[in-house]
Amino acid sequence: MTDRSAPIGVFDSGVGGLTVLRALQSELSGEHFIYLGDTARLPYGTKDPDTVVRYALQAGQSLIERGVKALIVACNTASAVAMPAMAQHYRGLPLIGVVHPGADAAVAATRSGQIAVIGTEATVRGGAYQRAILARRPDARVTARACQLFVALAEEGWTEGAIARAVAERYLGPLFGAEARERHESADTLVLGCTHFPMLRDTIRAVIGTEVAIVDSAAITAATARTLLRERGLINGVAHEVGARPLQLLATDGAARFAAIGSRFLGRPIEAREVELVDL
Ligand code: DGL
Repeated sequence: MTDRSAPIGVFDSGVGGLTVLRALQSELSGEHFIYLGDTARLPYGTKDPDTVVRYALQAGQSLIERGVKALIVACNTASAVAMPAMAQHYRGLPLIGVVHPGADAAVAATRSGQIAVIGTEATVRGGAYQRAILARRPDARVTARACQLFVALAEEGWTEGAIARAVAERYLGPLFGAEARERHESADTLVLGCTHFPMLRDTIRAVIGTEVAIVDSAAITAATARTLLRERGLINGVAHEVGARPLQLLATDGAARFAAIGSRFLGRPIEAREVELVDL
């Protein structure tokens, strides 16, 4: 029998998954989370699928060895590329990625069925979002574009201003500009298919206008996790106060950098001494 008070593992290639952890902590306020950011090997988004699978399995294994009762893959690239391998290796363990919840949210948000997805190179190349959306709404028209530079901008903290705006226009102009509208190819819903991209939400909004629904998977992934844990009888009922929620932060490199950059993603200050360095 799995112990309800066991922690929940959350994994990302770096600090981006802290945007998902934030949603998980507020949705599941009685839980103890262990977050692992594979900062030594970030970015995953430019790597070959085999490499991403290998890294994801190592990260998952490290969390399982710490006794987690469920595993949240809070990285779109790992969710898009490595979920089948992880599901095969961790049979019986509740396993939740961000792609399927993100596809649920996109299909719920769109009216026209024209959906744009942006993510890392590996996420877009693998086609997991496109397949997940079409499985839910077969008449949807999905366009996808890799926006790899957004990852670096979010890490650097350059989420607003002229540089962020120019990059966003370059990536999103072809999806939402006048020409796309004239061809009736402009989407009414944009999926932020990378955990870093919510940091650029205001800049993205300024470029695509107010009519387009912006979907990110954090909140819906947290709700999906709650549903699955409840079904399995694994919810830890005793809620913790906001400042006292048990959290272990693990990283594979750079505790100080993780703390400095991660603070923005988590929405609260992280001290470098809170971050334990681990080897996978
Ligand atoms: N966290 C990754 C994702 O959501 C983005 C960063 C990376 O390329 O590793 O896809």
